[in-house]
Amino acid sequence: MTWILTVLSGACFILLGSVGDCKEKLSSRTMSFHQTQLGEKQGQVLTRQRRDDTASPSPTFTACKLPLTPYELGVLDQNTHETGFHGDDGASFTLTWVGDGTGVILVLSTISAPLDSFFEGASSRLYRSADYGKSFYDISHLINNTFIRKDFGILPGPGNSHQVILTAETPVLNNSGGVIFISTDAGVSFKSVQLPFHPAQPITFHFLNPEYLVVISIDGGLWLSVNFGAVWIKAHEGTYSYTWGSGITLFFSSSPTGTVESDRRGELLLKRTEDLGKTFTTVAENVFSFGYIGGFLFASIIETLGAPRVLYVSSDQGDNLNKAKLPSASTEQFYSVLDGDEDMIFMHVDDAGEESYFGTVYISDDRGILYSKSLEHHLFGGEGKSDFTNVTSLRGVYLTNILEEDGRIRTVITFNRGGNWRALNKPQNVECGEDEGNCNLHIHGEHSRFNSITPMLPLSDPTAIGLVIAHGSVGDSISSTRPDVFVSEDGGYSWRGALRGAHHYSILDSGGLIVAVEAHPRDGQINTIKFSTDEGQCWKVYNFTKQPIFFAGLASEPGTKTMNISVWGYRPDENNQPMWVAVTIDFQSILTRECRTDDYVQWLAHAPEGGDSAMDGCVLGYKEVFFRLKKNSVCRNGRDYVVSRQISPCPCTREDYLCDYGYYHHENSSECLKQPEAVDQTLNVCQNGEEVELIPSGYRKVPGDYCVGGFTPLRREESAKRNCGSSSQPATPSEHSALPRETMVLVVACIGVVTVILVAVASVVYTVTRMFYRNRVPAYRFSALQFQDDPERVTVTNRASVDSDDDLIE
Ligand SMILES: *[C@@H]1O[C@H](CO)[C@@H](O)[C@H](O)[C@H]1NC(C)=O
Ligand SMILES: *[C@@H]1O[C@H](CO)[C@@H](O)[C@H](O)[C@H]1NC(C)=O
Ligand SMILES: *[C@@H]1O[C@H](CO)[C@@H](O)[C@H](O)[C@H]1NC(C)=O
Ligand SMILES: *[C@@H]1O[C@H](CO)[C@@H](O)[C@H](O)[C@H]1NC(C)=O
Ligand SMILES: *[C@@H]1O[C@H](CO)[C@@H](O)[C@H](O)[C@H]1NC(C)=O
Ligand SMILES: *[C@@H]1O[C@H](CO)[C@@H](O)[C@H](O)[C@H]1NC(C)=O
Repeated sequence: MTWILTVLSGACFILLGSVGDCKEKLSSRTMSFHQTQLGEKQGQVLTRQRRDDTASPSPTFTACKLPLTPYELGVLDQNTHETGFHGDDGASFTLTWVGDGTGVILVLSTISAPLDSFFEGASSRLYRSADYGKSFYDISHLINNTFIRKDFGILPGPGNSHQVILTAETPVLNNSGGVIFISTDAGVSFKSVQLPFHPAQPITFHFLNPEYLVVISIDGGLWLSVNFGAVWIKAHEGTYSYTWGSGITLFFSSSPTGTVESDRRGELLLKRTEDLGKTFTTVAENVFSFGYIGGFLFASIIETLGAPRVLYVSSDQGDNLNKAKLPSASTEQFYSVLDGDEDMIFMHVDDAGEESYFGTVYISDDRGILYSKSLEHHLFGGEGKSDFTNVTSLRGVYLTNILEEDGRIRTVITFNRGGNWRALNKPQNVECGEDEGNCNLHIHGEHSRFNSITPMLPLSDPTAIGLVIAHGSVGDSISSTRPDVFVSEDGGYSWRGALRGAHHYSILDSGGLIVAVEAHPRDGQINTIKFSTDEGQCWKVYNFTKQPIFFAGLASEPGTKTMNISVWGYRPDENNQPMWVAVTIDFQSILTRECRTDDYVQWLAHAPEGGDSAMDGCVLGYKEVFFRLKKNSVCRNGRDYVVSRQISPCPCTREDYLCDYGYYHHENSSECLKQPEAVDQTLNVCQNGEEVELIPSGYRKVPGDYCVGGFTPLRREESAKRNCGSSSQPATPSEHSALPRETMVLVVACIGVVTVILVAVASVVYTVTRMFYRNRVPAYRFSALQFQDDPERVTVTNRASVDSDDDLIE
């Protein structure tokens, strides 16, 4: 049992550290709803907020409400469908969308008896809808009424595939292996497959090819199938955890002795197979944990027994692993990858101190090796949650919360992918009174959701350009008293108060429609849904049922293409037993006409009204003009809508460059100067088994920056090759090349902007200096790549909780 649990915590590895993934889960295919006892007090705050109890009420706004016209009421009534799941006593419902645009939803209802009577009382039912939730059919007979494991849920295939896997609960005793049910036609028919092993965790699909499956068995075998479960082969023994890399590369950790004991994790081998289990390469030894995030492979390695763990990074699928150049951290501290893509990653490094709850955010270079400081005092709660949020509706925008010295939590936002951060503007429709100076919007993130202050995380989607919906409060810092819903339509530059109180919300029709349901109604029951066709400015209220329900969750097809939304909940049936109810509303009837060209308007991103025109829309070297829906256009984008944009490159400025390894920002100019204390000016990187010595010019383009012309530092990179590990002679320090005259003008003009960064850079200089004094290639300590959470800690409430059983890698 212990073994199974550790495997699970290993599998959670990427998920827990990567907020991007967690957010992705929100829009992912599977979600679970749970029932609490009828009448139980709803919306109770389960844990007290630690530090931020602000006494004074925050300034507020009046939400804009519009009446529903009789016509709208009529068509909505016609297009609302209610399903009561009579006689189903399932305590939890798990929903999965199968395929894209198929309208197929599979619903698994399970009742789990106490652990000791697990196989007696437990039962499950399976339902299927093929019309976006308007009607459901009980299809339990298709799987011979077999009890399906709730913890493994329903596993839908990747992308638009129609593959589905259900895992039966099979007693380990007297059975040689488990049983799965597979479907290739989106749940119309199922076939049972006898497995030659007992799975220890949910089966994982390859993120592109649904034929490729991988799973670890309860005795540590790594099992692979290349034909959607028909034939399984045991590829390896003593496996601890695995993750897909790019292509069909599979990484896994295994014990050198073939068995795994959880206290010997620092002795694991990190292996790789690029041909689905035929041949293996050992990528690293003495591995404690590993993960694959963005395009980067991370491994925490114990180099000598009892020594702290060291973080290694590879940007080429493990061919070359290099030590991450991060400040040292003691054994109690942790590192956590917040988010990452092909270009770079955001890394949180915990500050020293037993209960500091904060740390520093670093951004990596394109190799994942060099890190520059981006944000200090970054909140990372004791529950292992960070509020770091990728605002996916506008490039380069991220927001998160910082824990300040006065113990208050404040929200900061960056519009240039971590280059600099600032407080959020006051919402336009909120008046602050005399306290104008301390009047900013603060956003609730994962930390607040975990503490049951808000039911949802900030919401954005790449198809709904600029749109951000989030819970927040206005004032000097975040307040737990009464979060309201705020909306931004320009990616976080300006905000408006949209709805009073906490809500569940969803983006439909690529942003043309937003719907919301009150989270904590007074008597715990709801019968209304609010919707807005003008990006959250004004809202109409529709009563979707005559008999109110205890709300469980809001569910719509992943992505934002749909206009069908289901409200899930339960209410007492005729026998006063709780009955599950799904009400599906088709909003297509409200948006009667398709959008025409003149419904769209050109919009330059990152050029807010009254903002500094210096930026002029340029972020990471280019600007984007989008064609977006006019606010007063009431029309459908439709399923075929694609975001249309024009891109133009920007000239480079100093801000498009970082100071490279061994260089620092000079205090009074924006030049990168050579570290004077640096005895050795080189950076040794292992490439193809040879040590390459990079003698950098001092400047390095920000990863993923596409600027052209403008500021161009002279690049002087020499390299010397020798076998890795051999003693290296000091390289000849290269003279720093002076900047061309015309770029100096640019540099001077930029100084104002650069000063903000200088503060941060000063500290980088300090750490870099310290590194050079100590050792040429310092050993950075590493305690745990991810913050280890307790996998057993499950909040059982009636709020929608997000299941982690989707594929971990995009
Ligand atoms: C397993 O099989 C043995 C004999 O083959 C039998 O005595 C025992 O009752 C079985 N256990 C279960 C749980 O069926
Ligand atoms: C259900 O049971 C019948 C009879 O035992 C069998 O023929 C059928 O294949 C089973 N269906 C599945 C999906 O296992
Ligand atoms: C943030 O989200 C955008 C849009 O989905 C994505 O392209 C980008 O890679 C994400 N950034 C990171 C660092 O993960
Ligand atoms: C809708 O429901 C609300 C709250 O239950 C109620 O106050 C309101 O009168 C209803 N509106 C209509 C038009 O039935
Ligand atoms: C809503 O559901 C209906 C079927 O009930 C479907 O025909 C329609 O395409 C769906 N609308 C959208 C936008 O997905
Ligand atoms: C930077 O400029 C300030 C004021 O001009 C001066 O006092 C300071 O000494 C300068 N610092 C360096 C390192 O030159």
